[in-house]
Amino acid sequence: MRTPFLLVTRSCKAIHRLQHSAFVSPVSALYRHQTISVLRNSSTVSCKDDRSYYITTPIFYVNASPHLGHLYSAVIADCLHRYKLLQGFNSKFATGTDEHGLKIQQAAEAAGKDPLTFCTDVSERFKHLFNSCNISYTDYIRTTEQRHHQAVKHFWSVLWNKGLIYKGSYEGWYSTQDESFLTALQVGDAVDSSGNEIKVSLESGHKVEWMKEENYMFRLSAFRSQLLDWLKGNPRAIQPEIFYQVVLKWLQEDLPDLSVSRQRSRLQWGIPVPGDAEQTIYVWLDALVNYLTVAGYPDIHNQWWNVAHHIVGKDILKFHAVYWPAFLLGAGLPLPQTIYVHSHWTVGGKKMSKSLGNVVDPLERSKQFTTDGMRYFLLRQGVPDSDSDYTDDKAFKLLNAELADSLGGLLNRCTAPALNPAQIYTAFCPQSFPSEQGGRAVGEDYHMLEAVKNLPAVVEQHYESMHVYKALEVISACVRQTNGFVQRHAPWKLERSDITDQRWLDTIIHVSLECLRMYGTLLQPVVPEISDKLLSRLGVQPDERGLADVNFLPKIRGMDCPFEGRVLGSDTGVLFTRLDNLDIDKQNPKKTKKAKK
Ligand code: MSP
Repeated sequence: MRTPFLLVTRSCKAIHRLQHSAFVSPVSALYRHQTISVLRNSSTVSCKDDRSYYITTPIFYVNASPHLGHLYSAVIADCLHRYKLLQGFNSKFATGTDEHGLKIQQAAEAAGKDPLTFCTDVSERFKHLFNSCNISYTDYIRTTEQRHHQAVKHFWSVLWNKGLIYKGSYEGWYSTQDESFLTALQVGDAVDSSGNEIKVSLESGHKVEWMKEENYMFRLSAFRSQLLDWLKGNPRAIQPEIFYQVVLKWLQEDLPDLSVSRQRSRLQWGIPVPGDAEQTIYVWLDALVNYLTVAGYPDIHNQWWNVAHHIVGKDILKFHAVYWPAFLLGAGLPLPQTIYVHSHWTVGGKKMSKSLGNVVDPLERSKQFTTDGMRYFLLRQGVPDSDSDYTDDKAFKLLNAELADSLGGLLNRCTAPALNPAQIYTAFCPQSFPSEQGGRAVGEDYHMLEAVKNLPAVVEQHYESMHVYKALEVISACVRQTNGFVQRHAPWKLERSDITDQRWLDTIIHVSLECLRMYGTLLQPVVPEISDKLLSRLGVQPDERGLADVNFLPKIRGMDCPFEGRVLGSDTGVLFTRLDNLDIDKQNPKKTKKAKK
């Protein structure tokens, strides 16, 4: 019974090795693509169970409305989820809201609402934003749900029964905004808006307070060497590399035990410690377990828990890369496969905050830029390694240049009735564009083909390492090259009555449509609506849009092209309507001005 399973696993690994080699050495990738597709197709069925994938966003605090940074975390995760589905994985994608803790309790009080009603209202706002932006989560978790309470209590009991939690007392700094304990070295002096001297977290800038209370402690210090071993043995566990190095450094410093409960008298809004009604479980322990709850913990989590990947912002790295793995090691559970870390969006070089009046509302912007426009901008401009600054102006310039003019323009050219009166996927003529130079195509055309042919391997590699901006950069460069190809050969100047000219014209269109098919397929994780519109216009059916179906320009290798001769889709609408920046300024004068300062 064991052998077939081993064979399946090996064949999946072989595919990954092949994919990798196609990237490292792009020469003769036309042939290699074939091999990959055949292998993928033949292995899809047998690999299915082995190819599960589980991706999560952080769960979002409900003390305030969603902003652009929150949407960014969700869009990255959505992109990876969609990309895995395209690869044929069985992917699960969880997001949701973090609803317990002191700051939520205080926000509900300030709003004059009972905590659950308050949480439900804000949680719905997040859900609405995500639904509007096509975040295709498969599970939306709220920490106030029963299934989660059960998972947290069970998890706590496992740690308790293993002697990893003990009753102690904590004395030190606490930041309610970050729901985080800090050492003296992490705290500095500051002055608040009323001129009072206060202590703040050096990392977040949030106010901290001295607290002293009896509570439960987790033996975090006992896990330092295991955590170091894990990271040293898995150098890609935390990406990008700069954040991996940050965590290694933390682990070389002092790692004191961690307080994992608060006195109930101070914090009522949370899950009570099992067996001690006087204590509430620390909100971060509670929140982190959400990833297990969604996986089906404690009963049926194995399928998903072995393949978990987390997307997190840099501000919550320690919770995910130190506390969480230590809790999991304590509970005897596997560690996440990857923690992908992203940096932040600033506005005018500053952190978004209500008091600065520079919070960017993602819902409002996605109405102006369209949902796909918003998604494209965030993923094209957001760099995981360092912060990115948001301006409306940048967004509208980028979207007009790359989506409206470049990609939309290319589609228009190839489908315009003047050049393509029959409205079909025109025929490719091998004499006009032979596999080796000698026809009417020139050297630059062959370079373009080489770049587009290698695109899936390059793009997959970038998606895989969460460098989505790099994937979009190379796609955008190829779109420009294809526009250059059309421009160079000016098909509108060809003499239609001449049969060789007509064949060459059809070939130019065929090659351009093949390039567009590649771009549409590879862009699906980022701009699902635009990709759908583009692929539908090309006549590519929904079951022909997987990464394994991408087989580029088969005619140049003397193979059949299933699309050749097909009637194009009937939706002739504009792919992406040019944005008018004046509209943005008119609709949002105050915010735009502030944001530009
Ligand atoms: N509730 C915790 C996470 C618990 S996960 C077990 C939390 N919530 S949060 O709402 O404050 O942040 C959620 C995510 O939004 C984090 O990944 C955070 O980094 C991200 N962002 C918050 N502000 C951001 C920007 N300005 N830019 C980009 N992402 C930012 O932390």
